[in-house]
Amino acid sequence: MYLTDDQLDEEKVFKDPVHRYIHVRSRLIWDLINTREFQRLRRIRQLGTSFLTFHGAEHSRFNHSLGVYEIMRRILEKFEGRIEFSEEEKWLCLCAALLHDVGHGPFSHSFEKVFHTHHEDWTRRIILGDTGINQILSRVSPSFPDKVEKVIEKTYENKLIVSLISSQIDADRMDYLLRDTYYTGAHYGDFDMERILRVMRPYKDHVVIKYTGMHAVEDYIMSRYQMYWQVYFHPVTRSGDVLLRKIFQRARDLYRQGYQYQREPVHLIPFFEETEVPLQDYLNLDESVVIFYFHEWSQEQDPILSDLCDRFINRRLFKYVEWDRSRREELDQLKRLFREAGIDPDYYLEMDSPSDLPYDVYRPGQEERTPIFLLMADGSLEELSQASEIVDAISGKERYDHKLYFPLDFLEDPSRNPGTVQEIQKLLKYRSRNL
Ligand code: NI
Repeated sequence: MYLTDDQLDEEKVFKDPVHRYIHVRSRLIWDLINTREFQRLRRIRQLGTSFLTFHGAEHSRFNHSLGVYEIMRRILEKFEGRIEFSEEEKWLCLCAALLHDVGHGPFSHSFEKVFHTHHEDWTRRIILGDTGINQILSRVSPSFPDKVEKVIEKTYENKLIVSLISSQIDADRMDYLLRDTYYTGAHYGDFDMERILRVMRPYKDHVVIKYTGMHAVEDYIMSRYQMYWQVYFHPVTRSGDVLLRKIFQRARDLYRQGYQYQREPVHLIPFFEETEVPLQDYLNLDESVVIFYFHEWSQEQDPILSDLCDRFINRRLFKYVEWDRSRREELDQLKRLFREAGIDPDYYLEMDSPSDLPYDVYRPGQEERTPIFLLMADGSLEELSQASEIVDAISGKERYDHKLYFPLDFLEDPSRNPGTVQEIQKLLKYRSRNL
């Protein structure tokens, strides 16, 4: 079979602060890691702008992808004797784990919002297109890249394999929670993964948790809840995201208006034009390239673009206030006042509303979320929120956060009309030393 000569002469190990070591014994995995497309993930941060809040959060999607692979490798070890995966299915698990984020681009969340691209589409194109990754996966069998892609896309027929990569308890989440906890230094995200791996059981087409592991899973669910609100949705991080969106938006608007850039942003023009972007153009883009343009643009003639870029580079972020979404008229009024004060609200006033559903039971007709089931001593299954009061308390409860972002330093500028600024201040209910 294709795997007979797959073993490396010597096992490769990556030192990893979260899992201690990441073990690679197969040539297939080693070769995938060494492709240009996978190495590119070193230049894309896992947490986008979180480094502006938590300075340690500089870890990359490369780290995380290796981590998900390692967790999957260990799950497969634990499952030995409990389930018969074919050789090909094991490779499918490992390759999908390693490659699940390969389509992410620079600052994905902000970038995708402005340019209407989706990392899922790029993942598909990277796995199925003319790439090193596709060539290596095809060594397994001509249909193998397609299968890997289907697992990542959650359409693969074997739902157990899909659920190991994406469900409410999967290798991806376990890695990012632990990794983001480690690199941010925020300890809310810690949980006992070793324990969870020991109590995970394959059961028909999904994974269940042996009832003795309920408290470890409770802890995992709470970690996720805490991490969303304390780290992922941190308003300072969100402020960085707002700024990114405004930069991309301004750069594109200028391009479309025929603005003459001092240095043509060749890497980004295909996205400004929103035509079919060649795969190679996408792969040439990473955060080092984007930051390079921000440096360039901070010297541009356009005062808005240069100011926004200078803000990002030097961390002069927008401030924020809580803002109820029903206050639409006041928001319009605020925009008018911003204009009056000589501040363009299209680029300097932004509403941001992250939301999260920490855990949910199955709800027919809605986006399918497979609940977590406990495997009881008598062999029956019990849904987690039925058994756990803690999980029940947050189950199905979506939480929102609405904030309005704006540059306080602009309002504090003494050259602005004090009357207008006072009205703005009243609406924002924002107090600062100088206002
Ligand atoms: Ni991931």
